[in-house]
Amino acid sequence: MNQTLERWSSRRAFILAVTGAAVGLGNIWRFPYITGENGGAAFLLLYVGFVVVLGLPVMMAEIMIGRAGRRSPMQSLAELARQRGTSSHWKWLGLFGAFTVFCILSFYSVVSGWSIDFMVKAFSGGFAGQSAPQIGAGFDAFLADPLRMTLNHTLFLVMTMVVVAAGVAKGLERLNNLLMPALYLLLIVLAGHAVTMDGFGPAMAWLFTPDFSALTPMVLVHAMGHAFFTLAVGACALMAYGAYMPDHQSLPGAAGAVAVLDVLVALLAGIAIFSVVFTQGMDPGEGPGLVFVTLPVAFAELPGGPFWLGLFFLLLLLATWTSSINLAEPMVSTLVGWGLSRRMAALAVGLCVWLVGLLCVLSFSSLSDVHLIGEMNFFGVVSTIPPEIFLPLGGLLIAIFAAWVMPEQEALRALDAGPNGFRVWRAVVRWVSIPLVLVVLFSGLL
Ligand code: PFF
Ligand code: NA
Repeated sequence: MNQTLERWSSRRAFILAVTGAAVGLGNIWRFPYITGENGGAAFLLLYVGFVVVLGLPVMMAEIMIGRAGRRSPMQSLAELARQRGTSSHWKWLGLFGAFTVFCILSFYSVVSGWSIDFMVKAFSGGFAGQSAPQIGAGFDAFLADPLRMTLNHTLFLVMTMVVVAAGVAKGLERLNNLLMPALYLLLIVLAGHAVTMDGFGPAMAWLFTPDFSALTPMVLVHAMGHAFFTLAVGACALMAYGAYMPDHQSLPGAAGAVAVLDVLVALLAGIAIFSVVFTQGMDPGEGPGLVFVTLPVAFAELPGGPFWLGLFFLLLLLATWTSSINLAEPMVSTLVGWGLSRRMAALAVGLCVWLVGLLCVLSFSSLSDVHLIGEMNFFGVVSTIPPEIFLPLGGLLIAIFAAWVMPEQEALRALDAGPNGFRVWRAVVRWVSIPLVLVVLFSGLL
């Protein structure tokens, strides 16, 4: 299979596309509730640390492989391994990535569907004048309604697969150009409004005064997994985008910009959300419903609240849309590599993800007490194991491949940061990132 000739139209377009993949539920939904469940500041600090020493270098590794191979992940891995004269079994890493994103997309689509429902409800004034307990009860009633959840899950998946069927690189650029700035603006307004709340002070203290006494190996595992998840690293999904990266763009600069934007979105969302939590005396560890309950409460106080709340869920929906398109890409490009047409591949992937997503839907009603691992039901398992185990494992193999296996000349060129930049990157990946993932994973196992 030949190299792709398609490129993002500009350097900015590449950064926007990767930011589109990175910024999503991970920042606005998952970050606040995981931070809440893991005690606040110490977790936040660990997660930011992991973004810097693991997420960023491995993100570069992943994009480098795609950029050097300029093919689908499986084919790029096979081709670079061939050039080096080693085993073509490395290509199975691409398949593992496709399996990981398959699991992730099945719950991602369900939760993204929640924002469709909430957007409609907000715009139509459904939250107007409701108190915090009423909003909480409304959310519980929504979760207990599998039909309504399935409808939204279906809608979201169709939205995703339609774009993927048409080919990713084209449709996305303009959307990202508009969407990202709008999302940042609205989050800044929200965080600014949070400053006026009684809970702002306690929220800041809780978010930024670390207490390391409560640290366990499991908290390390959660923080590491979240760093990979939020940056979209470890599933070969960014590898697929790297294939379209233009020449003459230094990768560390681009990757750094994405990581900064991604962390900023999470922090702004965290400040907005936890200010409400502490103002209302809610529980930070309340779980996956956190955003969907706190933000309607926050907006209820603002002038024009229903409109702004609706707008927020619209932007969240668009942000998750660009992420889910990225999530679907490794699977679809794998099937296309096996000879399926893009449309057929998108249809097949969509159907399978839809079916598994139904199990996630039912995890909030009839299957809620079916515990698969420990206390976790089906939704608990797919929203925990793939992000926290599969992504770091995939990231580990990606790092090993980029820093030890692929031809050095290719790696040097794909990083595009000069010989010294390359040496620094490689030293960090070899002697910091790779050992650290191993240590954290093993400490979690024990
Ligand atoms: N980074 C996305 C988010 O924060 O919502 C989720 C994600 C996308 C994870 C793509 C993994 C991936 F390959
Ligand atoms: Na993210």
